[in-house]
Amino acid sequence: MDQDAQKRSAAEAALAYIEPRLTSDTIVGVGTGSTTNFFIDALAGIQHKFDACVSSSEASTERLKGHGIQVLDLNSVDRVEVYVDGADEVNPARQLIKGAGGALTREKIVAASAEEFVCIVDQSKIVDVLGAFPLPVEVIPMARGLVARVLVELGGSPEWRHGYTTDNGNIILDVHGLTITDPAHLESTINDLAGVVTNGIFAAQAADLVLVATPTGVERF
Ligand code: A5P
Repeated sequence: MDQDAQKRSAAEAALAYIEPRLTSDTIVGVGTGSTTNFFIDALAGIQHKFDACVSSSEASTERLKGHGIQVLDLNSVDRVEVYVDGADEVNPARQLIKGAGGALTREKIVAASAEEFVCIVDQSKIVDVLGAFPLPVEVIPMARGLVARVLVELGGSPEWRHGYTTDNGNIILDVHGLTITDPAHLESTINDLAGVVTNGIFAAQAADLVLVATPTGVERF
């Protein structure tokens, strides 16, 4: 089974997991990325079973609307039943690195709003220690140099994602060379820097359930 087939089977497992809980009032939170795209496409087939979605990016909003699924402003909903999203790395504590697609801030906001965060990945995303994947940090443009210098002091090698602007109008620094043995502490340390909007460590906001697709089936932890 190739990687795309694994992503699709993780997405289908998430759909099977949430489907029994859907009612005509349910709001589903939707992440961003290629694995989530499989989930969005699968969700389209059962759109009569829930009310609407809230989305973590302009790209996902466009895909959802393309399927005729209603997308609501997060501020207009009281309760998000479940949030489904992919990740770039997942450790055994269900802590994540996210943001390769640049949507980390809105992803963290929707994840924080949801009753449950279901993370869907293929097995290549599973690691013992986070950090081999460059850590995305969303930064207010004028603070790029300031934040980059502090990230170097923290042991990383930040690289400006040239030519990329987030949905919020900011830039991304991808931080290479980190070995993240205390994800919660590093998440908080980086978020405290002036000019940082958020970073792609999801430790305070870890997944509640990980569905990981392997060549022999979907496992959960
Ligand atoms: C988007 O900003 C990211 O957080 C994605 O959720 C993450 O990069 C996983 O993407 P893929 O499913 O495309 O690997």
